[in-house]
Amino acid sequence: MATPIFNASCSFPSSKVIDCKSYIGLRSTVTKPRIASLPIATCQRRSLVIRASESGNGHAKKLGMSDAECEAAVAAGNVPEAPPVPPKPAAPAGTPIIQPLNLNRRPRRNRASPTVRAAFQETDISPANFVYPLFIHEGEEDTPIGAMPGCYRLGWRHGLVQEVAKARAVGVNSIVLFPKVPEALKNPTGDEAYNDNGLVPRTIRLLKDKYPDLIIYTDVALDPYSSDGHDGIVREDGVIMNDETVHQLCKQAVSQARAGADVVSPSDMMDGRVGAIRAALDAEGFQNVSIMSYTAKYASSFYGPFREALDSNPRFGDKKTYQMNPANYREALIEAREDEAEGADILLVKPGLPYLDIIRLLRDKSPLPIAAYQVSGEYSMIKAGGVLKMIDEEKVMMESLMCLRRAGADIILTYFALQAATCLCGEKR
Ligand code: PBG
Repeated sequence: MATPIFNASCSFPSSKVIDCKSYIGLRSTVTKPRIASLPIATCQRRSLVIRASESGNGHAKKLGMSDAECEAAVAAGNVPEAPPVPPKPAAPAGTPIIQPLNLNRRPRRNRASPTVRAAFQETDISPANFVYPLFIHEGEEDTPIGAMPGCYRLGWRHGLVQEVAKARAVGVNSIVLFPKVPEALKNPTGDEAYNDNGLVPRTIRLLKDKYPDLIIYTDVALDPYSSDGHDGIVREDGVIMNDETVHQLCKQAVSQARAGADVVSPSDMMDGRVGAIRAALDAEGFQNVSIMSYTAKYASSFYGPFREALDSNPRFGDKKTYQMNPANYREALIEAREDEAEGADILLVKPGLPYLDIIRLLRDKSPLPIAAYQVSGEYSMIKAGGVLKMIDEEKVMMESLMCLRRAGADIILTYFALQAATCLCGEKR
């Protein structure tokens, strides 16, 4: 029995799916309306069969009495036996005897069994919805990230390649790269960001060489390359310079595209960067490279563990003059309208779970695909709660991802991508 979550191009056998019982409430276990997708030939064949039997050419199997004899027997009162209706299950002693409530709607009827629940499940989730963020560094070894249990700075030539192979094996074929840049290569203008032989372009070339069909998203922002730890160039009075930063971001995006990136993702929140990047890509012949814009990226404390992972904390101040105020809702629409007009292919909301209303807002107001980023702090909280045995890590993980889908996210950037896809495949690690 195939499940709808595997409609996509997952290459693993769907029979494994049935073994995964733990998330029965989170995903449908019945086949999607197959009939809708029946090839026309099959339908025609079926109607032909009906006509053949109507014309008397069909061969009915002989088991005993003929249909006419069975009908005659029942009409004569000789009704064959079938199991009796089971007695009403007993309630525990002491249960009050009451008049049933007179309700004409009891929503619990549509939740009464796994089959019924699966039939009426409104949202599905599949490994194809995940984008796996991966941290890379120049080293040979994989270094654990203290604030993100289970995440590593992966050696770009070894650990990374293995991690991508594992992800692909469970149907996750999209990744986004975040580099840990050597301190010595950082400067105030973040020029290492567009070094064609820098860590990210080199890694893209290596991955595309091994896995040509892998979809590689990149981060476009100066912070990993900036000696100030900001996403843009900082003036001496502390102002983040918008248009000069956009100039650098265009060079960064083109360099990533040249290496083979499929989707460049500006996460910097400068004004006008989507249109400028689009023009720069097109001018270099990269019409087919997509832009996923971090449309509504909030100045959030949930990014703490990520900044530890990349050692990219701002050296002073905060990011509140470019990232959005967490108190604001309507402002997300202003950003979304600009990004749409400037040619973004995907709109991203970040963080994820605390910002479900923003995901829903953009889903309702824009026809573009929506991405949600379940950020480092969200990941680490679930991991920590699990380690302390305060919550069931796996179930909370799957629920949080399903809720992001329900709110309207098409794709989810999540550090859980491999773990969650493994669960969806029914192979517990
Ligand atoms: C930087 C960037 C950040 C994240 C993604 N890209 C950090 C920041 O804006 O300070 C955060 C991701 C996470 O916390 O998981 N451009």
